[in-house]
Amino acid sequence: MLFEQTNLLLPMIKNTLLNAVEEGGKVLQQFFNGSFTIESKSSLNDLVTEADHASEKAIFKVIQDAFPTHFILSEETGEIKQESNIKWIIDPIDGTINFANGIPICCVSIGVEENGKMILGAVYNPMMNELFVAERGKGATLNGKKIQVSTKDNLLSSCLVTGFPYQYLDAANGPLQIFDKLIRKAIPVRRLGSAAIDLCWTAAGRFDGFYEHKLQAWDSAAGFLMVEEAGGKVTDLGGNPYSPYQPGIIATNGKIHDQLLAVIKGGNL
Ligand code: IPD
Ligand code: CA
Ligand code: CA
Repeated sequence: MLFEQTNLLLPMIKNTLLNAVEEGGKVLQQFFNGSFTIESKSSLNDLVTEADHASEKAIFKVIQDAFPTHFILSEETGEIKQESNIKWIIDPIDGTINFANGIPICCVSIGVEENGKMILGAVYNPMMNELFVAERGKGATLNGKKIQVSTKDNLLSSCLVTGFPYQYLDAANGPLQIFDKLIRKAIPVRRLGSAAIDLCWTAAGRFDGFYEHKLQAWDSAAGFLMVEEAGGKVTDLGGNPYSPYQPGIIATNGKIHDQLLAVIKGGNL
């Protein structure tokens, strides 16, 4: 019954999602390269700017005007709990350090979950005029055109992307050791500074794979669906089915997934 209701509401939810990323994106554009306040959060370089709060506010307005009873999880506010089968998972700016430095690799990212399953995702980078949208079972698009993951099947000739946590994880076989193993084999491993964009660019075939050790649900909610809907594969760092509520992610074109997973699990190249 609930599922049928959501099915009927889906066009409206999608429309609201697109409006929300657009409104958030307008805020990013207004503040980008201008002056705004910047504060530190968990550590000196874990930043939140005036624009993060303003983007969040603009996004909330769109969603709450349309669906006042939906559950919201957003980076700067946390949970707005409601008895609803729909949850909006919001990162008002993903790539805040880039944003604060005038680097145009940052975005608004919003995923929509129904009964714990991601059904829609949108990632909008207004500085590069790129809007990525994914709908479960219907594929992923960039500015309205279908996107597909790459077809490369050899990790050694792949182009990868990763990110590093704000606080280094000292576990054995941690992010730096894995990075070291890959780059010693001359595998290009980029580091863009926005997990949502890393995932979208993997979905679009610009990267063959992405991995990261310590993400939050709002970093990957929209992007992981983008990769899956573009034909790729997403798991946790152990190769298990992915959940955005645990920290690790491997997202690839599918063809190099097991090779990358083996390295991340401690294997050599
Ligand atoms: C960060 C970015 C970055 C990732 C960090 C995230 P923020 O999000 O996605 O690529 O490496 O773990 O926290 O702080 O810019 O929203
Ligand atoms: Ca983020
Ligand atoms: Ca953020």
